[in-house]
Amino acid sequence: MRVSLLSSSPTFLVFFSFSTFCLLADPVLGITRHYKFDVKLHNVTHLCHTKSIVSVNGQFPGPRIAWHSTASKWVGRWAIIVTQFPIQTGQSYVYNFTIVGQRGTLWHSHISWLRATLYGPIVILPKRGVPYPFAKPYKEVPIIFGEWFNADPEVVISQALQTGGGPNVSDAYTINGLPGPLYNCSAKCEVRQDLPFAFNQCSLNDELLFSIPNHTLSVVDVDSIYVKPFETKTLLITPGQTTNVILKTKPKYPNDTFFMTARPYVTSQGTFDNSTVAGILEYESPPSSLHSSISIKKLPLFKPILPALNDTSFATNFAHKLRILGSAQYPANVPQKVDKHFFFTVGLGTSPCQHNQTCQGPNGTQFSASVNNVSFAMPTTALLQAHFFGQSNGVYTLDFPSSPIIPFNYTVTPPKKYYDASDACFELMMIANDNKNCIGAGVWFMHCHLEVHTSWGLKMAWIVLDGELSNQKLLPPPADFPKC
Ligand SMILES: *[C@@H]1O[C@H](CO)[C@@H](O)[C@H](O)[C@H]1NC(C)=O
Ligand SMILES: *[C@@H]1O[C@H](CO)[C@@H](O)[C@H](O)[C@H]1NC(C)=O
Ligand SMILES: *[C@@H]1O[C@H](CO)[C@@H](O)[C@H](O)[C@H]1NC(C)=O
Ligand SMILES: *[C@@H]1O[C@H](CO)[C@@H](O)[C@H](O)[C@H]1NC(C)=O
Ligand SMILES: *[C@@H]1O[C@H](CO)[C@@H](O)[C@H](O)[C@H]1NC(C)=O
Ligand SMILES: *[C@@H]1O[C@H](CO)[C@@H](O)[C@H](O)[C@H]1NC(C)=O
Ligand SMILES: *[C@@H]1O[C@H](CO)[C@@H](O)[C@H](O)[C@H]1NC(C)=O
Ligand SMILES: *[C@@H]1O[C@H](CO)[C@@H](O)[C@H](O)[C@H]1NC(C)=O
Ligand SMILES: *[C@@H]1O[C@H](CO)[C@@H](O)[C@H](O)[C@H]1NC(C)=O
Ligand SMILES: *[C@@H]1O[C@H](CO)[C@@H](O)[C@H](O)[C@H]1NC(C)=O
Ligand SMILES: *[C@@H]1O[C@H](CO)[C@@H](O)[C@H](O)[C@H]1NC(C)=O
Ligand SMILES: *[C@@H]1O[C@H](CO)[C@@H](O)[C@H](O)[C@H]1NC(C)=O
Repeated sequence: MRVSLLSSSPTFLVFFSFSTFCLLADPVLGITRHYKFDVKLHNVTHLCHTKSIVSVNGQFPGPRIAWHSTASKWVGRWAIIVTQFPIQTGQSYVYNFTIVGQRGTLWHSHISWLRATLYGPIVILPKRGVPYPFAKPYKEVPIIFGEWFNADPEVVISQALQTGGGPNVSDAYTINGLPGPLYNCSAKCEVRQDLPFAFNQCSLNDELLFSIPNHTLSVVDVDSIYVKPFETKTLLITPGQTTNVILKTKPKYPNDTFFMTARPYVTSQGTFDNSTVAGILEYESPPSSLHSSISIKKLPLFKPILPALNDTSFATNFAHKLRILGSAQYPANVPQKVDKHFFFTVGLGTSPCQHNQTCQGPNGTQFSASVNNVSFAMPTTALLQAHFFGQSNGVYTLDFPSSPIIPFNYTVTPPKKYYDASDACFELMMIANDNKNCIGAGVWFMHCHLEVHTSWGLKMAWIVLDGELSNQKLLPPPADFPKC
């Protein structure tokens, strides 16, 4: 991918938003927007392999959705997650969302490893008339990191779950769906694109380090929350995360091109895809200049120096810089009153192999992961459906421990048999449905965003009962909700 910037005299501030879905109604302006997502197979060739991938509207990454936020919050109903059956071939389903007081995010699939190819950006801009808490960028460029498997990712994970060992690693990382010039057979796939900078991370299993040589990035927003801006040469971004950064462009035509690269940050001992994805940042030569005849290809190419793959001190330092903006206009509204305390430990370990099987996990075991030492087993009935129709018997139980049963001594070095899950990052789909920080009634899926940990059982669901008010009740499923 090439990001091309125009350089004339003033320094441009370019907004990168890295990261991921809907039918939308705008209650204030009364605008309803309709987007049609056709989930279908289409052929893509990368790294000399042509394969059929599942994508939306034949686009990879999927279509970009953009609109302005209104004053309230977003309420999703019967969204398709573990809590609801997937849409079956030939079926359709209308997601009816109201967007209230939210900003930019990423949409993605929650079915097995389909997220490998089923994702795209949702850009929720600030409410009309509300400025950014920083200088308005000249241009916005969404950048989505992904992971490419030559094999079918569904087969990769089902094979791993059968053998109990670690899944095969990906063959490449991608930027906006493209592996870029460092991989075989992909240089010629480069597409020149002029795009508005927001980074979305949609790789399945890897945290990524990203840098643009000779440029400094100013981080202004992480996961749709404005942060106290800080400058960095390198960005650390985890799966499912979104980060908005401002790139300060060179004041003069630099006569150089810049290799933007990303590769993983890894602290565990398992195998991982250690390859590097690259994109090129180039400046358009000023019109009527002597340079206009120089081919971009001939310009010097600078490459960034990324921290080591295991540079924990860089990662810790980066994480410590994240501070909520907390300005008068954007205060840190953290709920002060806590009704119930939960204490969750996440674990990545092993469980014994079935008697009649041989397992390829450590010491003949199978990998498994847990929350408070409970591994999630996939239900065959959708949880939200079971909950709404009062048919939870045999589907789920309500005795999930709210703290670990066996207390763990966190101050001692963990025994070897525990694997490092310190990088686990969570996604909890809970959506407030009123102005008192209440959580929408229904069933909410909480899971690790490193997909392999989720596959091994690092997931759980919350059941939020109906509140007193009429707007705090779970609505019945729409007529078209997917059935088995
Ligand atoms: C994808 O490619 C295969 C052969 O490589 C071909 O048989 C198939 O028809 C193609 N599918 C689509 C949707 O183009
Ligand atoms: C979407 O939800 C709104 C508010 O609940 C409702 O008025 C509208 O009829 C719904 N539209 C569709 C297409 O279901
Ligand atoms: C995973 O890797 C193993 C060993 O290289 C190979 O035999 C297997 O076919 C691979 N699985 C997939 C789904 O490509
Ligand atoms: C890339 O191509 C070269 C030359 O054909 C080959 O030696 C190398 O193994 C390939 N690398 C990968 C990762 O396929
Ligand atoms: C980019 O950085 C390299 C190495 O630090 C330096 O030699 C070069 O002059 C820089 N180029 C620009 C345009 O800043
Ligand atoms: C830009 O690069 C070209 C080719 O490398 C060179 O001829 C030219 O002098 C350079 N211009 C400047 C302003 O550095
Ligand atoms: C990536 O891992 C492979 C296999 O472990 C190793 O041979 C290779 O040198 C590594 N490449 C880099 C760039 O670290
Ligand atoms: C990172 O890996 C290198 C090479 O494997 C090793 O020498 C070094 O100790 C590791 N650093 C950390 C912080 O684990
Ligand atoms: C292992 O044993 C169980 C129960 O006896 C059986 O259902 C299963 O098919 C067996 N698996 C294999 C791989 O033989
Ligand atoms: C591996 O398994 C054997 C036999 O079950 C056991 O004696 C040994 O302690 C295990 N090793 C580790 C590192 O867990
Ligand atoms: C986790 O559960 C397993 C099996 O139920 C049990 O053997 C183990 O002691 C538990 N570990 C902790 C730390 O609670
Ligand atoms: C945890 O381990 C440390 C070091 O061994 C010890 O000093 C401390 O008392 C232990 N804490 C608990 C709660 O057992």
